[in-house]
Amino acid sequence: MTVLVTTPNGMVGRYVTEALRDRTDARFLVRSAASAEALAGLVRGEIIRGDATDAAAVRRAVEGVDRLFLAHPFAEDQIAAETTLGLTALDAGVRRIVKLGARRFGGGRTPDAVTGNHDIIADRLREAGVAELTVLQPDRFLQNFLPSAASIARGTLADAAGPGARGYVDVRDIAEAVVAELLTDHPTGGEIELSGPASLSLSELAAVFGAALDTPVRYVDVPLNDAWRTDLADRGTAPSIIDGLHDLYANYRHEGTADLGNGVQRILGRPPRSAETFARELLRPAALGSA
Ligand SMILES: NC(=O)c1ccc[n+]([C@@H]2O[C@H](COP(=O)([O-])OP(=O)(O)OC[C@H]3O[C@@H](n4cnc5c(N)ncnc54)[C@H](OP(=O)(O)O)[C@@H]3O)[C@@H](O)[C@H]2O)c1
Repeated sequence: MTVLVTTPNGMVGRYVTEALRDRTDARFLVRSAASAEALAGLVRGEIIRGDATDAAAVRRAVEGVDRLFLAHPFAEDQIAAETTLGLTALDAGVRRIVKLGARRFGGGRTPDAVTGNHDIIADRLREAGVAELTVLQPDRFLQNFLPSAASIARGTLADAAGPGARGYVDVRDIAEAVVAELLTDHPTGGEIELSGPASLSLSELAAVFGAALDTPVRYVDVPLNDAWRTDLADRGTAPSIIDGLHDLYANYRHEGTADLGNGVQRILGRPPRSAETFARELLRPAALGSA
């Protein structure tokens, strides 16, 4: 059985890759030379260099593959990349696809391109007749806060998701669910929402982080205004992606308290990791390393 992992250096992909590193029947599709180099010393399986939108590279990557972990960042090429990969894999005989999606919002929210892209891709896969399709729909990742570990350690958690409470989920749980769905004989399948064990507001999350870092941490709201847009544009984010993120964050701000998905329990048979565990095991070391 051959498994293909896409975005093996991505937020979820890196943990999936870590779990499959000793398998000679795991294959990894990477785009950049830097990512390929980072992988080379880590995995025993085959590494294929190529862009997920390049049909020839994708054909090489999916040849002989039985199961596919399909992931892609929110980007202008996301729909093209995931449909090219998924449909080419299906043509090549892939039976099972485990797709990384995103949790949808409760009724009455504005359509946003982030969850909208996932719906379009999942619909195309279903229409194409994938025999075994799992669409994992996680809530916001706790690991989103790792790049800000140093400023959190200085006492500020700045974020644009507003006053609501969410089931922030540890990416390690998402990756374990991916690996379980890929490798088991009998996958759970279908759409599966993944959350952490509790809905937390950003003020509550700041308090959890502060306790782990032994310092008071204050939540500061980042409004979705022109300065927010300019900051993203200055970091090279395309205008359509800024619009999509704006609508996503507007939905976060308006949803209030998000329901909790029970996917970790359903797939892995255990409770999800808590924000406290994430803060102690990953945020604190990141803050100490970068402070
Ligand atoms: N962040 C959250 O809170 C959250 C919550 C729920 C769902 N999600 C979903 O999670 C998914 C992953 O998002 P992410 O931001 O975490 O991204 P990511 O998985 O970290 O992906 C980044 C990786 O994508 C690779 N990549 C980008 N374009 C590529 C292309 N054209 N061909 C091949 N590889 C390409 C890059 O490879 P190189 O390094 O080689 O360039 C990079 O390693 C998204 O679909 C998002 O909607 C995120």
